[in-house]
Amino acid sequence: PDLDSFIAGLPKAELHLHIEGSLEPELMFALASRNGVAIPFASVEEVRAAYSFTRLQDFLDIYYQGANVLLTQQDFHDLGSAYFARAAADGVVHAEIMFDPQTHTARGIPFGTVIGGLLAAMEEAEVRHGMTSRLILCFLRHLDEEDAFRTLADAKPWLDRITAVGLDSSENGHPPSKFARVFAEARRLGLRLVAHAGEEGPPAYVREALDLLAIDRLDHGNRSLEDPVLTARLAREGMTLTVCPLSNLKLCVVNDMADHPIDRMLREGLRATINSDDPAYFGGYVADNYRAAAAARDLSRSDLATLARNSLLGSFLSDAEVAAHL
Ligand code: ADE
Ligand code: ZN
Repeated sequence: PDLDSFIAGLPKAELHLHIEGSLEPELMFALASRNGVAIPFASVEEVRAAYSFTRLQDFLDIYYQGANVLLTQQDFHDLGSAYFARAAADGVVHAEIMFDPQTHTARGIPFGTVIGGLLAAMEEAEVRHGMTSRLILCFLRHLDEEDAFRTLADAKPWLDRITAVGLDSSENGHPPSKFARVFAEARRLGLRLVAHAGEEGPPAYVREALDLLAIDRLDHGNRSLEDPVLTARLAREGMTLTVCPLSNLKLCVVNDMADHPIDRMLREGLRATINSDDPAYFGGYVADNYRAAAAARDLSRSDLATLARNSLLGSFLSDAEVAAHL
């Protein structure tokens, strides 16, 4: 088959996807109109033109603003449905989706409204697309520990439907150590742990995520490569890295896709995976990310198959569930 069909045909898991980051401008306008929410854009084209970033914070400012159109359980359901349909077309057989409850509860949207809509979309995806999915509750690291603890308390009635907690938002100045106690409590509650680290932050933040949070999976992790000892440790421990090439390009984590370290990660023995992060903002879903990385770094079909296989191995599915996909 041609390369596009080969990529779409690889059974893959998406492990790093912020559901709020899958809000396409068209749906943003539709929800703004349905809910009577004003947005500071006149057209879909104007929205897309605003998606030009030089660093993580540029993106976050516009991403949190975009989420203001999400009000009802149906809105979160529609958001999820749109993502799952798009991911299914890319050969995603399993998705572990992140959501940012604090973005919504801070606006007075109940936690149950958010998770209720997402869970409905997840059930529907299983029927419509045969796609399984899990939820990762992310804490916003620019907010304080107390706010994270309050969010974990909000989640208590839903713990059997949440697989993991994560840590996202503005990385620099908000090291993993700030959330060591919240993560310990989440672990005690039986949740798995992931954290964004080494996207803009230094290798020391990745070490903190390992040593102080005891993460099960590392989101991004790019800057780990600056530290050979850390890189060797991640390889030795079989840590999965959820790498997001188009995100890295749009947020200037790399200056050119030709400089992307995805193949170097594989060569160093890291269990790297390819993911879309915030596809509505960064110009592509998961298959677009495989294609962009393959073209820029001349990845072989064997490399692409390894990346897809890594995504299933690095998922929170059981060994039997993973085996059924491989
Ligand atoms: N929230 C959504 N996308 C993110 C990213 N790439 N880094 C940190 N926080 C985020
Ligand atoms: Zn992310």
